[in-house]
Amino acid sequence: MSNKFPKDFLWGASTSAYQVEGGNVNDWSDWEKNNVEKIIEEAKKYWRPWQQEKFPEMFERDNYICGKACDHYNRFREDFDLAKEGGHNAHRFSVEWSRIEPEEGKFDEKAIEHYREVIQALRERGIEPFICLWHWTNPLWLGKEAEKNKKFPFYFSRYAEKMIKEFGREVKFWLTLNEPTSVIASGYISGKWPPGKKNIFTALGIYKNLAKAHDEAYKKIKNINPDSQVGFANILHSFEVYRKNNWLDKIAVKVGKYFINEKFIKLTKKNNDFLTVQYYFHNRFRFYKKIINKKSEVSDLGWEIYPKGIYQIIQDLKKYNLPIYITENGLADANDSKRTKFLKEHLFWVKKAIDEGIDIRGYFHWSLLDNFEWDKGFWPRFGLVEIDYATQKRKPRKSFWEYKKIIENNGL
Ligand code: GCO
Repeated sequence: MSNKFPKDFLWGASTSAYQVEGGNVNDWSDWEKNNVEKIIEEAKKYWRPWQQEKFPEMFERDNYICGKACDHYNRFREDFDLAKEGGHNAHRFSVEWSRIEPEEGKFDEKAIEHYREVIQALRERGIEPFICLWHWTNPLWLGKEAEKNKKFPFYFSRYAEKMIKEFGREVKFWLTLNEPTSVIASGYISGKWPPGKKNIFTALGIYKNLAKAHDEAYKKIKNINPDSQVGFANILHSFEVYRKNNWLDKIAVKVGKYFINEKFIKLTKKNNDFLTVQYYFHNRFRFYKKIINKKSEVSDLGWEIYPKGIYQIIQDLKKYNLPIYITENGLADANDSKRTKFLKEHLFWVKKAIDEGIDIRGYFHWSLLDNFEWDKGFWPRFGLVEIDYATQKRKPRKSFWEYKKIIENNGL
């Protein structure tokens, strides 16, 4: 086997509007203001001593207020210069619905113009844009439980239609929703994220509502521009039983796999031109308890690093017979001491799946820049490029240059 990835393989990184742009007002910015004290309080219990010591910012209010973020809204050209410098030939980003449609039914021409410039800036640098329409944040006019709103599919698909009309000629790849199941789990089951609900029945309803939103947006996009390639960005966990022949562990794995990995694909099945993989989590289940292998390395967030998981997940997608893009994969690693190895090992398993005949067409590392990690705020550092938030200075990490070598070589 050649050690090269397929010709025309897309290499890049991902970002999302709220996490990098700065200056957004939406349901998240509202929620974080009202929950910052509570999160700081809980940080003492939640994070391990080594994490509290290494990241004392987790006890500061500013850490949890997204505010200016990376000021990417103003600095996107500079940031895309970096992407180009790193050899990237594709880039995934999201457009912020609350900017595009600040009032129900009224689209903001200036915001649309901004994203037109963003797309153009990518094209000028030879970078293929992957646009995502919804990376969790909602305009305030949608109300507090936006995803539960029966009219969500109508509103969302109307906004998608506007976007395809505006950008259909410049953008081929479209992601409707980002990780619907993460929002369902954290917003409506554990209640850790906005809107902070804990209700299984509501959560089940939201699967359907979001699937409908995806389906309707898919149809509108394809109607207007049949050449567009449309999918959604999917979080997929890898699973393993802790005890080999234990049926409780097996049930836990089955249930987890069904609700996290499979349900949304099944609900939207006919309406995907490609599938995606966003891989961060390995679950070794002793019944419903997750056991981390003590020998495994973990990220700054304490997430187990388990590269083979990406291969297992891809195997499970084979049956759908659709092209696959890895739209997110990465880790919080402030010292950049693990990122290069992480990249190489995950890409090793991606390549193995390709060699076995699976149609994988691109890899987007999460993330191009350090950014605002939702309820955890700024301390987890996911970027190939480091951000000094006080000065907004960008500094490529060593892994940025290592990734560049992989890209230039189109292989490991
Ligand atoms: C995700 C998220 C990102 C996170 C990343 C790291 O889609 O899960 O898209 O917003 O920052 O996953 O947790």
